[in-house]
Amino acid sequence: MRNLASILRIIALTAIAWGGVELLFETDPGQLAIIEFPKTLIFVGVILLVSIAIEVSVAALRFTLFRSLSVEKQEKFLASENKLANQLKAIFERLPKLLTKSRPIEEEGDIALDHNYDGIRELDNKLPPWWIYSFYASIVFAVIYLARFHVFNDYTQIEEYKAEVAQAEIDIARYKETAKDLITYETVTVLEESSDLEAGKKIYDNNCVACHKADGGGGIGPNLTDEHWILGGGIKNVYKTLVEGGRPGKGMVAWKNDFSPYELQQVASYVLTLQGTTPADPKAPEGEVWVEEETE
Ligand code: HEC
Repeated sequence: MRNLASILRIIALTAIAWGGVELLFETDPGQLAIIEFPKTLIFVGVILLVSIAIEVSVAALRFTLFRSLSVEKQEKFLASENKLANQLKAIFERLPKLLTKSRPIEEEGDIALDHNYDGIRELDNKLPPWWIYSFYASIVFAVIYLARFHVFNDYTQIEEYKAEVAQAEIDIARYKETAKDLITYETVTVLEESSDLEAGKKIYDNNCVACHKADGGGGIGPNLTDEHWILGGGIKNVYKTLVEGGRPGKGMVAWKNDFSPYELQQVASYVLTLQGTTPADPKAPEGEVWVEEETE
């Protein structure tokens, strides 16, 4: 009994520490703070160890103190401990009776009504308290509900729905903010923010001009300003070329290890802004004219 109580106390304390950590640290949606910030796991672990240590030392102390008592006092001590345990046990045993107020079968004779339908008799049981108080609670609930929604018209179901959808949209937008790198060939789109295009231009100027020229006119690599594409135009194909590189041996490497998917999306978007510009010394068109397929 006492061991069980110790274990419960240790679990409770550790759970409180963990709960506190989860409340205090902002995490990405669906992520646990102890996983995102592993240092907090150490904190929870320390709390666990400390609470075990406390329980062990308290138990040891009790044991030594107990041994130092005279036999008579030991008995008194045990009796007082048992008294508490017995009281708890008594409450647990009485609980079902308190909740139902049922009469034992032996006493049913006292509450039998004199109705008798072909041998089926009726008992005059008290309404079980658990039921009757739930019933009162439901009346209170109904009064408040009626006043709030039918008298004072707090908000309607439609408004509630709209508010939830709006909140969900905010959550989705926030999730996408933190998950910019979840881009794939299927989902990549052209970025139009000037900050993104500037970031793309920066990466282009630092990594691509040697082969494609600063104005995209082409050199070792093909001209990026005309509508002719060797590996396909449009954001999806350009993104794919950047992630996977060109055909083997042509010189265009895969960039996926140098840049994050989001950065590659920025460069790809920037490359597409070069379309239709007139470079100083353009390389002759290579590949097919790319026509964007109609998407429904
Ligand atoms: C070492 C030279 C070199 C560098 C550096 C280079 N490229 Fe290329 N790039 C090429 C070559 C060569 C091709 C043609 C590949 C093929 O034919 O398969 C190409 C193809 C491309 C294509 C496809 C063009 C088409 O017609 O389909 C794009 C888009 C592209 N490069 C963008 C970039 C960007 C953006 C960078 C910088 C991050 C870059 N390249 C860096 C040499 C290079």
